[in-house]
Amino acid sequence: MNLEEFKCKTTAALPESGSVSWQAPSNIALVKYWGKTGVQLPANPSVSFTLDACRTRTELRFSRSAGASDAPAVHVFFEGHLAPEFAPKISKFLGYAVDYQPFLRGLQLEVHTSNSFPHSSGIASSASGLAALALCLTDLERSLLPEMTPEQFRRKASFLARLGSGSAARSIDGGLVLWGAHKGLAGSSDLYAIPYPGQVHPVFERFHDTILLVDKGRKPVSSTAGHGLMHGHPFAEARFAQARSNLDRLKGILRDGDLPAFMEVVETEALSLHAMMLTSHPSYVLMKPETLSILERIREYRAESGQPVCFTLDAGANVHVLYPEAVAKEVYPFIRQELLKYCQQGQHLCDRTGPGAGRIG
Ligand code: PMV
Repeated sequence: MNLEEFKCKTTAALPESGSVSWQAPSNIALVKYWGKTGVQLPANPSVSFTLDACRTRTELRFSRSAGASDAPAVHVFFEGHLAPEFAPKISKFLGYAVDYQPFLRGLQLEVHTSNSFPHSSGIASSASGLAALALCLTDLERSLLPEMTPEQFRRKASFLARLGSGSAARSIDGGLVLWGAHKGLAGSSDLYAIPYPGQVHPVFERFHDTILLVDKGRKPVSSTAGHGLMHGHPFAEARFAQARSNLDRLKGILRDGDLPAFMEVVETEALSLHAMMLTSHPSYVLMKPETLSILERIREYRAESGQPVCFTLDAGANVHVLYPEAVAKEVYPFIRQELLKYCQQGQHLCDRTGPGAGRIG
């Protein structure tokens, strides 16, 4: 599909006012997206598990305002309070969205949003937050175009979410999600994410992600700045090639349920992501000493016990501990006894793979 096909061409108009509500989950990448061109077009394809417990709920209220301004005017409310600090990011997103949804022009919008996870947990809410808002916008479009199919709906929502935050494109569908064009994976696109189209062994259908909150502070370097530092990075091309080759490997691993190889690829991806940060110019470190202690202890425990448990990292110090449902009874007590001491006040979130976004109300 090309960009033109994403433009909503209807001349139908929305009613004077109304509202729509959606919730969308967070996701954790197994093969990481790091480096982009244009408006969140990925330098390499990525694949993620959609999470379940970490979600954003968003209600979008709209009314017609006098005078048709270019982009809709917006007020953002977070957990019941006016939150002007979120407005610039949302306004920028709406500025992109209006090119594909001209019916937004001249609207007055209120975005009421809340997260199921603590705001200050260091868990990025941009993926779930922008996905939930993109779903609300797509729902408005569907009210003007009732012939829109469920597949077109989800694709448009993922396309719009991507304009706000790349990883948000992967927070619409459930299970394993693929974003970025890749040879041999039918239907893959840089413009939007799709349910992972390859074969998936049942062991990957119910996976746990225990998120260890090591550092809840603000990141010293934002994801946007980090992506930017991949331009001119001495290892950028090798990194993009590595991600593509890890995705190729993952195809067979996901089909066969090969847990040892899965753990190797997932940990390599996490460490390569941070290696890019360590070696960018200027360089920076998002891991904390506790992050490294956790990684080390997970590897020791795996060697001692033979349990299929591994780690991955986002752009931050927190650690995602991944393991299949079948071993949760053994692995979770290990996490409690041996890893929570590295977390701020022992804080952690118990999440797992989930079914994707849904409409509320
Ligand atoms: O969606 P962004 O622009 O915040 O980028 C996030 C990238 C990582 O979370 C570090 C990796 C990924 O693929 O989700």
